[in-house]
Amino acid sequence: MDKLLITGGKTLNGEVRISGAKNAALPILAATLLADTPSYISNVPDLRDITTMMNLLGEMGGNFTVDDEKIEANNSNIHDFTAPYEMVKTMRASVLVLGPLLARFGKAHVSLPGGCAIGARPVNLHTQALAAMGADIRVEGGYITAQAKRLHGTTLCMDLITVTGTENLMMAASLADGVTVIENAAREPEVVDLAKFLNRMGARIEGAGSSTIRIQGVDKLYGARHQVLPDRIETGTYLVAAAMTGGRVKVKNTDASLLDAVLLKLLEAGATISRGDDWIELDMQGRRPRAIDIYTAPYPAFPTDMQAQLTAMNAIADGVGMLTENIFENRFMHASELQRMGANIRLEGNTAIVKGVERLQAAPVMATDLRASAGLVLAGLVAEGDTLIDRLYHLDRGYERIEEKLTQLGAQIRRVSE
Ligand code: EPU
Repeated sequence: MDKLLITGGKTLNGEVRISGAKNAALPILAATLLADTPSYISNVPDLRDITTMMNLLGEMGGNFTVDDEKIEANNSNIHDFTAPYEMVKTMRASVLVLGPLLARFGKAHVSLPGGCAIGARPVNLHTQALAAMGADIRVEGGYITAQAKRLHGTTLCMDLITVTGTENLMMAASLADGVTVIENAAREPEVVDLAKFLNRMGARIEGAGSSTIRIQGVDKLYGARHQVLPDRIETGTYLVAAAMTGGRVKVKNTDASLLDAVLLKLLEAGATISRGDDWIELDMQGRRPRAIDIYTAPYPAFPTDMQAQLTAMNAIADGVGMLTENIFENRFMHASELQRMGANIRLEGNTAIVKGVERLQAAPVMATDLRASAGLVLAGLVAEGDTLIDRLYHLDRGYERIEEKLTQLGAQIRRVSE
Protein backbone atom coordinates (compact mmCIF):
# COMPACT_ATOMS: atom_id res chain seq x y z
CA MET A 1 0.00 0.00 0.00
CA ASP A 2 1.31 3.48 -0.89
CA LYS A 3 2.64 5.76 1.83
CA LEU A 4 3.94 9.29 1.72
CA LEU A 5 7.43 10.06 2.95
CA ILE A 6 8.12 13.69 3.81
CA THR A 7 11.44 15.10 4.97
CA GLY A 8 10.51 18.26 6.83
CA GLY A 9 12.21 21.59 7.07
CA LYS A 10 12.08 22.99 3.53
CA THR A 11 10.67 26.47 2.93
CA LEU A 12 8.08 26.44 0.15
CA ASN A 13 8.52 28.95 -2.68
CA GLY A 14 7.10 29.28 -6.17
CA GLU A 15 3.85 28.88 -8.05
CA VAL A 16 1.24 26.16 -8.05
CA ARG A 17 -1.78 25.62 -10.28
CA ILE A 18 -5.04 24.79 -8.56
CA SER A 19 -7.29 22.01 -9.91
CA GLY A 20 -11.05 22.01 -10.37
CA ALA A 21 -13.16 21.56 -7.25
CA LYS A 22 -13.89 17.94 -6.37
CA ASN A 23 -17.04 18.92 -4.48
CA ALA A 24 -18.43 20.76 -7.50
CA ALA A 25 -17.37 18.17 -10.09
CA LEU A 26 -19.11 15.33 -8.19
CA PRO A 27 -22.65 16.82 -8.18
CA ILE A 28 -22.14 18.10 -11.74
CA LEU A 29 -21.28 14.59 -12.96
CA ALA A 30 -24.36 13.28 -11.10
CA ALA A 31 -26.45 16.03 -12.76
CA THR A 32 -25.49 14.77 -16.23
CA LEU A 33 -27.93 11.93 -15.42
CA LEU A 34 -30.77 14.42 -15.88
CA ALA A 35 -30.41 14.54 -19.69
CA ASP A 36 -30.25 11.99 -22.50
CA THR A 37 -27.91 14.12 -24.61
CA PRO A 38 -24.15 14.44 -23.88
CA SER A 39 -22.55 16.95 -21.52
CA TYR A 40 -18.96 18.15 -21.73
CA ILE A 41 -17.33 19.02 -18.42
CA SER A 42 -13.87 20.60 -18.21
CA ASN A 43 -11.50 21.36 -15.32
CA VAL A 44 -12.47 18.09 -13.63
CA PRO A 45 -9.70 17.01 -11.25
CA ASP A 46 -8.13 13.60 -11.78
CA LEU A 47 -9.05 12.07 -8.41
CA ARG A 48 -10.19 8.77 -7.01
CA ASP A 49 -13.63 10.14 -6.05
CA ILE A 50 -14.21 11.34 -9.62
CA THR A 51 -13.34 7.88 -10.97
CA THR A 52 -15.71 6.33 -8.41
CA MET A 53 -18.55 8.61 -9.58
CA MET A 54 -17.89 7.74 -13.25
CA ASN A 55 -17.79 4.02 -12.38
CA LEU A 56 -21.06 4.36 -10.50
CA LEU A 57 -22.82 6.09 -13.41
CA GLY A 58 -21.10 3.62 -15.77
CA GLU A 59 -22.71 0.67 -13.96
CA MET A 60 -26.07 2.33 -14.50
CA GLY A 61 -25.42 2.49 -18.26
CA GLY A 62 -23.67 5.88 -18.53
CA ASN A 63 -20.80 6.27 -20.93
CA PHE A 64 -17.80 8.49 -20.18
CA THR A 65 -15.00 9.57 -22.48
CA VAL A 66 -12.10 11.32 -20.81
CA ASP A 67 -9.46 13.35 -22.64
CA ASP A 68 -6.93 15.97 -21.49
CA GLU A 69 -9.46 18.78 -21.76
CA LYS A 70 -12.80 17.42 -20.67
CA ILE A 71 -15.09 14.57 -19.78
CA GLU A 72 -17.91 13.70 -22.17
CA ALA A 73 -20.82 12.21 -20.23
CA ASN A 74 -23.44 10.35 -22.21
CA ASN A 75 -26.40 9.08 -20.21
CA SER A 76 -28.73 8.14 -23.08
CA ASN A 77 -28.67 4.50 -22.12
CA ILE A 78 -29.36 4.34 -18.37
CA HIS A 79 -30.95 0.99 -17.53
CA ASP A 80 -30.04 0.47 -13.87
CA PHE A 81 -31.10 2.76 -11.05
CA THR A 82 -29.00 1.34 -8.23
CA ALA A 83 -26.14 2.86 -6.25
CA PRO A 84 -24.73 -0.28 -4.59
CA TYR A 85 -23.41 -0.37 -1.03
CA GLU A 86 -19.90 -1.33 -2.23
CA MET A 87 -19.63 2.04 -3.96
CA VAL A 88 -21.57 4.27 -1.58
CA LYS A 89 -19.49 3.09 1.37
CA THR A 90 -16.29 4.19 -0.38
CA MET A 91 -17.77 7.56 -1.37
CA ARG A 92 -20.74 9.14 0.39
CA ALA A 93 -21.22 11.63 -2.45
CA SER A 94 -22.71 8.66 -4.39
CA VAL A 95 -25.97 9.68 -2.70
CA LEU A 96 -26.03 12.59 -5.20
CA VAL A 97 -27.54 10.23 -7.79
CA LEU A 98 -30.75 9.96 -5.76
CA GLY A 99 -32.31 13.27 -6.86
CA PRO A 100 -31.46 13.00 -10.59
CA LEU A 101 -32.54 9.32 -10.91
CA LEU A 102 -35.84 9.96 -9.19
CA ALA A 103 -36.54 13.10 -11.24
CA ARG A 104 -35.71 11.63 -14.66
CA PHE A 105 -36.68 7.97 -14.29
CA GLY A 106 -39.14 8.02 -11.38
CA LYS A 107 -37.12 5.49 -9.38
CA ALA A 108 -33.87 5.08 -7.47
CA HIS A 109 -32.34 2.40 -5.28
CA VAL A 110 -29.50 3.95 -3.32
CA SER A 111 -27.59 2.39 -0.45
CA LEU A 112 -27.60 4.28 2.83
CA PRO A 113 -24.02 5.38 3.39
CA GLY A 114 -23.71 4.49 7.09
CA GLY A 115 -21.42 6.37 9.49
CA CYS A 116 -18.03 7.68 8.49
CA ALA A 117 -14.73 8.71 10.04
CA ILE A 118 -15.83 12.29 10.71
CA GLY A 119 -19.37 11.79 12.00
CA ALA A 120 -22.73 10.01 11.63
CA ARG A 121 -23.66 12.04 8.54
CA PRO A 122 -27.24 10.88 7.99
CA VAL A 123 -29.14 11.69 4.77
CA ASN A 124 -32.55 12.07 6.43
CA LEU A 125 -32.94 15.65 5.20
CA HIS A 126 -32.48 14.55 1.57
CA THR A 127 -35.15 11.87 1.87
CA GLN A 128 -37.62 13.91 3.95
CA ALA A 129 -37.58 16.71 1.40
CA LEU A 130 -37.99 14.31 -1.54
CA ALA A 131 -40.97 12.78 0.31
CA ALA A 132 -42.46 16.28 0.67
CA MET A 133 -42.11 16.56 -3.13
CA GLY A 134 -44.27 13.46 -3.53
CA ALA A 135 -41.75 10.61 -3.55
CA ASP A 136 -42.58 7.32 -1.92
CA ILE A 137 -39.48 6.58 0.14
CA ARG A 138 -38.74 3.32 1.93
CA VAL A 139 -35.66 2.09 3.69
CA GLU A 140 -35.22 -1.65 3.28
CA GLY A 141 -32.14 -3.83 3.61
CA GLY A 142 -29.88 -0.82 4.02
CA TYR A 143 -31.16 0.78 0.83
CA ILE A 144 -33.32 3.81 0.13
CA THR A 145 -35.94 2.85 -2.41
CA ALA A 146 -37.57 5.94 -3.88
CA GLN A 147 -40.36 6.14 -6.42
CA ALA A 148 -42.43 8.95 -7.90
CA LYS A 149 -44.45 9.30 -11.11
CA ARG A 150 -43.40 12.93 -11.22
CA LEU A 151 -42.12 14.98 -8.30
CA HIS A 152 -44.05 18.13 -7.55
CA GLY A 153 -42.73 21.49 -6.42
CA THR A 154 -43.25 22.63 -2.84
CA THR A 155 -41.67 24.88 -0.23
CA LEU A 156 -38.95 23.12 1.72
CA CYS A 157 -37.43 24.50 4.87
CA MET A 158 -34.26 22.62 5.74
CA ASP A 159 -33.72 21.89 9.45
CA LEU A 160 -29.96 22.13 8.95
CA ILE A 161 -27.83 23.58 6.22
CA THR A 162 -26.74 20.64 4.08
CA VAL A 163 -24.53 20.97 1.01
CA THR A 164 -25.23 17.71 -0.82
CA GLY A 165 -28.83 17.83 0.44
CA THR A 166 -29.34 21.21 -1.24
CA GLU A 167 -27.67 19.84 -4.39
CA ASN A 168 -29.82 16.69 -4.51
CA LEU A 169 -32.98 18.76 -4.11
CA MET A 170 -31.98 21.35 -6.70
CA MET A 171 -31.41 18.55 -9.22
CA ALA A 172 -34.67 16.81 -8.36
CA ALA A 173 -36.67 20.05 -8.47
CA SER A 174 -35.30 20.99 -11.89
CA LEU A 175 -37.49 18.31 -13.51
CA ALA A 176 -40.40 18.51 -11.02
CA ASP A 177 -43.85 19.81 -11.78
CA GLY A 178 -44.17 23.40 -10.53
CA VAL A 179 -42.07 25.60 -8.28
CA THR A 180 -39.81 24.35 -5.47
CA VAL A 181 -38.44 26.78 -2.92
CA ILE A 182 -35.53 25.59 -0.75
CA GLU A 183 -35.25 27.69 2.40
CA ASN A 184 -32.18 27.52 4.63
CA ALA A 185 -30.28 26.29 1.56
CA ALA A 186 -26.50 25.84 1.56
CA ARG A 187 -24.70 28.86 0.05
CA GLU A 188 -21.44 27.09 -0.82
CA PRO A 189 -19.79 28.09 -4.13
CA GLU A 190 -20.11 24.45 -5.24
CA VAL A 191 -23.92 24.76 -4.98
CA VAL A 192 -23.73 27.87 -7.16
CA ASP A 193 -21.56 26.06 -9.72
CA LEU A 194 -24.04 23.19 -9.91
CA ALA A 195 -26.92 25.67 -10.38
CA LYS A 196 -25.00 27.30 -13.27
CA PHE A 197 -24.55 23.93 -14.93
CA LEU A 198 -28.22 23.00 -14.42
CA ASN A 199 -29.34 26.33 -15.88
CA ARG A 200 -27.13 25.63 -18.92
CA MET A 201 -29.00 22.31 -19.23
CA GLY A 202 -32.26 24.27 -19.40
CA ALA A 203 -33.21 24.42 -15.71
CA ARG A 204 -34.73 27.56 -14.19
CA ILE A 205 -32.97 28.14 -10.90
CA GLU A 206 -32.74 31.49 -9.12
CA GLY A 207 -31.10 32.45 -5.87
CA ALA A 208 -28.27 29.88 -5.70
CA GLY A 209 -25.65 31.38 -3.38
CA SER A 210 -28.34 32.81 -1.10
CA SER A 211 -30.26 30.90 1.54
CA THR A 212 -33.46 30.80 -0.54
CA ILE A 213 -33.32 28.99 -3.87
CA ARG A 214 -36.30 29.00 -6.22
CA ILE A 215 -36.58 26.35 -8.92
CA GLN A 216 -39.23 26.40 -11.62
CA GLY A 217 -39.44 22.80 -12.84
CA VAL A 218 -39.16 22.10 -16.58
CA ASP A 219 -40.23 19.07 -18.66
CA LYS A 220 -36.83 18.23 -20.13
CA LEU A 221 -33.15 19.03 -19.66
CA TYR A 222 -30.39 18.80 -22.25
CA GLY A 223 -26.68 18.04 -22.05
CA ALA A 224 -24.50 21.16 -21.69
CA ARG A 225 -20.92 22.40 -21.50
CA HIS A 226 -19.42 23.57 -18.24
CA GLN A 227 -16.08 24.39 -16.68
CA VAL A 228 -15.83 23.40 -13.01
CA LEU A 229 -14.84 26.17 -10.60
CA PRO A 230 -11.43 26.06 -8.84
CA ASP A 231 -10.99 24.07 -5.64
CA ARG A 232 -11.06 26.53 -2.74
CA ILE A 233 -9.97 23.89 -0.21
CA GLU A 234 -6.95 22.83 -2.28
CA THR A 235 -6.14 26.54 -2.63
CA GLY A 236 -6.34 27.08 1.12
CA THR A 237 -4.22 24.00 1.81
CA TYR A 238 -1.29 25.28 -0.31
CA LEU A 239 -1.56 28.72 1.30
CA VAL A 240 -1.34 27.17 4.77
CA ALA A 241 1.67 25.13 3.58
CA ALA A 242 3.38 28.40 2.61
CA ALA A 243 2.47 30.02 5.92
CA MET A 244 3.72 27.10 8.01
CA THR A 245 7.06 26.85 6.21
CA GLY A 246 7.66 30.62 6.29
CA GLY A 247 7.63 30.68 2.49
CA ARG A 248 6.18 32.60 -0.41
CA VAL A 249 3.72 30.83 -2.71
CA LYS A 250 1.51 32.05 -5.54
CA VAL A 251 -1.54 29.89 -6.21
CA LYS A 252 -2.86 30.27 -9.73
CA ASN A 253 -6.08 29.33 -11.55
CA THR A 254 -8.06 29.87 -8.40
CA ASP A 255 -10.70 32.34 -7.25
CA ALA A 256 -9.70 34.55 -4.32
CA SER A 257 -13.30 35.65 -3.74
CA LEU A 258 -14.20 32.13 -2.54
CA LEU A 259 -11.71 32.19 0.34
CA ASP A 260 -12.43 35.37 2.29
CA ALA A 261 -12.81 33.64 5.66
CA VAL A 262 -9.59 31.63 5.19
CA LEU A 263 -7.54 34.60 3.94
CA LEU A 264 -8.62 36.71 6.93
CA LYS A 265 -7.32 34.01 9.27
CA LEU A 266 -4.01 33.80 7.43
CA LEU A 267 -3.64 37.59 7.64
CA GLU A 268 -4.30 37.32 11.36
CA ALA A 269 -1.55 34.70 11.54
CA GLY A 270 0.87 37.29 10.16
CA ALA A 271 0.96 36.52 6.42
CA THR A 272 1.21 39.17 3.72
CA ILE A 273 -1.38 38.39 1.08
CA SER A 274 -1.89 39.86 -2.37
CA ARG A 275 -4.62 38.74 -4.72
CA GLY A 276 -5.93 39.11 -8.24
CA ASP A 277 -9.02 37.69 -9.92
CA ASP A 278 -7.54 34.24 -10.37
CA TRP A 279 -4.49 34.15 -8.12
CA ILE A 280 -3.42 34.62 -4.51
CA GLU A 281 0.12 35.12 -3.24
CA LEU A 282 1.02 34.51 0.36
CA ASP A 283 4.36 35.68 1.72
CA MET A 284 5.36 34.71 5.25
CA GLN A 285 8.86 36.24 5.00
CA GLY A 286 10.35 33.51 7.17
CA ARG A 287 8.18 34.38 10.15
CA ARG A 288 6.53 31.92 12.49
CA PRO A 289 2.72 32.11 12.24
CA ARG A 290 0.74 33.49 15.18
CA ALA A 291 -1.86 31.15 16.70
CA ILE A 292 -5.43 31.86 15.61
CA ASP A 293 -8.92 30.90 16.73
CA ILE A 294 -11.39 29.42 14.28
CA TYR A 295 -15.02 28.49 14.41
CA THR A 296 -16.27 26.32 11.55
CA ALA A 297 -19.71 26.99 10.06
CA PRO A 298 -21.44 26.82 6.67
CA TYR A 299 -20.25 29.16 3.88
CA PRO A 300 -19.37 32.03 3.89
CA ALA A 301 -17.94 31.32 7.38
CA PHE A 302 -14.77 29.32 7.95
CA PRO A 303 -15.00 25.89 6.22
CA THR A 304 -14.80 22.65 8.18
CA ASP A 305 -12.73 21.28 5.29
CA MET A 306 -9.88 23.64 6.32
CA GLN A 307 -10.02 22.87 10.06
CA ALA A 308 -7.40 20.08 10.11
CA GLN A 309 -4.94 22.23 8.14
CA LEU A 310 -5.33 25.11 10.61
CA THR A 311 -4.96 22.69 13.53
CA ALA A 312 -1.58 21.72 12.03
CA MET A 313 -0.63 25.40 11.65
CA ASN A 314 -1.57 26.19 15.24
CA ALA A 315 0.56 23.22 16.35
CA ILE A 316 3.71 25.16 15.38
CA ALA A 317 2.39 28.71 15.84
CA ASP A 318 3.33 31.28 18.41
CA GLY A 319 0.68 31.24 21.16
CA VAL A 320 -2.51 29.31 21.88
CA GLY A 321 -5.28 28.82 19.30
CA MET A 322 -8.77 27.41 19.76
CA LEU A 323 -10.47 25.55 16.94
CA THR A 324 -14.19 24.89 17.34
CA GLU A 325 -15.72 22.34 14.96
CA ASN A 326 -19.44 22.90 14.48
CA ILE A 327 -20.26 20.80 11.41
CA PHE A 328 -19.07 17.25 12.14
CA GLU A 329 -19.04 15.67 15.58
CA ASN A 330 -15.88 13.61 15.13
CA ARG A 331 -13.51 15.69 13.08
CA PHE A 332 -10.47 15.79 15.33
CA MET A 333 -8.98 12.39 14.49
CA HIS A 334 -5.83 14.19 13.27
CA ALA A 335 -5.27 15.61 16.78
CA SER A 336 -3.95 12.36 18.25
CA GLU A 337 -1.69 11.82 15.22
CA LEU A 338 -0.33 15.37 15.56
CA GLN A 339 0.28 14.69 19.25
CA ARG A 340 2.48 11.78 18.19
CA MET A 341 4.56 14.38 16.36
CA GLY A 342 4.91 16.45 19.52
CA ALA A 343 1.93 18.80 19.16
CA ASN A 344 0.37 20.14 22.34
CA ILE A 345 -3.39 19.71 21.76
CA ARG A 346 -6.16 19.37 24.30
CA LEU A 347 -9.64 18.38 23.18
CA GLU A 348 -12.62 19.73 25.09
CA GLY A 349 -15.90 18.71 23.48
CA ASN A 350 -15.91 20.13 19.97
CA THR A 351 -12.96 22.44 20.63
CA ALA A 352 -9.26 21.77 20.19
CA ILE A 353 -7.01 23.98 22.27
CA VAL A 354 -3.61 24.04 20.64
CA LYS A 355 -0.49 25.51 22.24
CA GLY A 356 2.11 25.99 19.56
CA VAL A 357 5.50 24.30 19.94
CA GLU A 358 8.75 25.48 18.30
CA ARG A 359 9.23 22.23 16.39
CA LEU A 360 7.33 19.06 15.58
CA GLN A 361 9.21 15.77 15.30
CA ALA A 362 8.65 13.32 12.47
CA ALA A 363 6.76 10.13 13.30
CA PRO A 364 4.88 7.43 11.42
CA VAL A 365 1.25 8.63 11.31
CA MET A 366 -2.01 7.36 9.95
CA ALA A 367 -4.47 9.33 7.85
CA THR A 368 -8.09 8.91 8.89
CA ASP A 369 -9.97 11.02 6.36
CA LEU A 370 -9.23 13.32 3.48
CA ARG A 371 -8.71 16.64 5.26
CA ALA A 372 -7.05 15.03 8.29
CA SER A 373 -4.50 13.63 5.82
CA ALA A 374 -3.87 17.13 4.50
CA GLY A 375 -3.24 18.31 8.06
CA LEU A 376 -0.68 15.53 8.54
CA VAL A 377 1.09 16.38 5.27
CA LEU A 378 1.39 20.00 6.42
CA ALA A 379 2.78 18.90 9.76
CA GLY A 380 5.26 16.62 7.96
CA LEU A 381 6.51 19.59 5.90
CA VAL A 382 7.73 21.36 9.04
CA ALA A 383 8.66 18.40 11.28
CA GLU A 384 12.24 17.45 12.05
CA GLY A 385 13.06 14.22 10.22
CA ASP A 386 11.11 11.82 8.00
CA THR A 387 7.34 11.59 8.45
CA LEU A 388 5.68 8.52 6.96
CA ILE A 389 1.96 8.89 6.30
CA ASP A 390 -0.03 5.68 6.04
CA ARG A 391 -3.46 5.20 4.38
CA LEU A 392 -2.66 7.55 1.57
CA TYR A 393 -5.81 6.61 -0.33
CA HIS A 394 -7.69 9.21 1.71
CA LEU A 395 -5.47 11.96 0.31
CA ASP A 396 -5.82 10.64 -3.24
CA ARG A 397 -9.58 11.15 -3.00
CA GLY A 398 -9.22 14.90 -2.96
CA TYR A 399 -5.76 16.29 -3.83
CA GLU A 400 -4.63 15.99 -7.42
CA ARG A 401 -0.91 15.13 -7.80
CA ILE A 402 -0.12 16.53 -4.35
CA GLU A 403 3.44 15.24 -4.14
CA GLU A 404 4.24 16.64 -7.59
CA LYS A 405 2.81 20.06 -6.71
CA LEU A 406 4.60 20.21 -3.35
CA THR A 407 7.89 19.05 -4.93
CA GLN A 408 7.56 21.87 -7.45
CA LEU A 409 7.36 24.26 -4.47
CA GLY A 410 10.56 22.84 -2.97
CA ALA A 411 9.22 20.23 -0.55
CA GLN A 412 11.02 16.93 -0.10
CA ILE A 413 8.21 14.44 -0.48
CA ARG A 414 7.73 11.15 -2.25
CA ARG A 415 5.33 8.25 -2.53
CA VAL A 416 6.70 4.92 -1.39
CA SER A 417 5.18 1.45 -1.81
CA GLU A 418 5.47 -1.16 0.92
N1 EPU B 1 -26.86 16.36 8.08
C1 EPU B 1 -27.93 15.73 8.66
N2 EPU B 1 -28.87 15.17 7.83
C2 EPU B 1 -28.78 15.23 6.48
C3 EPU B 1 -27.68 15.89 5.90
C4 EPU B 1 -26.73 16.46 6.73
O1 EPU B 1 -28.04 15.64 9.87
O2 EPU B 1 -29.67 14.70 5.80
C5 EPU B 1 -25.82 16.98 8.94
C6 EPU B 1 -24.46 16.31 8.80
O3 EPU B 1 -24.34 15.16 9.60
C7 EPU B 1 -23.53 17.44 9.21
C8 EPU B 1 -24.25 18.69 8.69
O4 EPU B 1 -25.60 18.31 8.50
O5 EPU B 1 -23.43 17.49 10.59
C9 EPU B 1 -23.71 19.26 7.39
O6 EPU B 1 -23.45 18.22 6.47
P1 EPU B 1 -23.61 18.41 4.90
O7 EPU B 1 -24.77 17.63 4.44
O8 EPU B 1 -23.53 19.84 4.53
O9 EPU B 1 -22.28 17.68 4.38
P2 EPU B 1 -22.16 16.88 3.04
O10 EPU B 1 -23.05 17.47 2.03
O11 EPU B 1 -22.29 15.41 3.31
C10 EPU B 1 -20.27 18.30 1.94
C11 EPU B 1 -18.89 18.06 1.43
C12 EPU B 1 -17.95 17.80 2.60
C13 EPU B 1 -17.97 19.02 3.50
C14 EPU B 1 -19.41 19.32 3.96
C15 EPU B 1 -19.55 20.57 4.79
C16 EPU B 1 -19.30 17.10 -0.76
C17 EPU B 1 -19.25 15.92 -1.66
N3 EPU B 1 -18.92 16.92 0.52
O12 EPU B 1 -20.65 17.12 2.65
O13 EPU B 1 -16.65 17.63 2.07
O14 EPU B 1 -17.17 18.80 4.63
O15 EPU B 1 -20.26 19.44 2.80
O16 EPU B 1 -19.08 21.66 4.09
O17 EPU B 1 -19.64 18.19 -1.20
C18 EPU B 1 -14.45 16.79 1.98
O18 EPU B 1 -14.36 17.24 0.83
O19 EPU B 1 -13.46 16.35 2.62
C19 EPU B 1 -15.74 16.76 2.64
C20 EPU B 1 -15.99 15.99 3.70
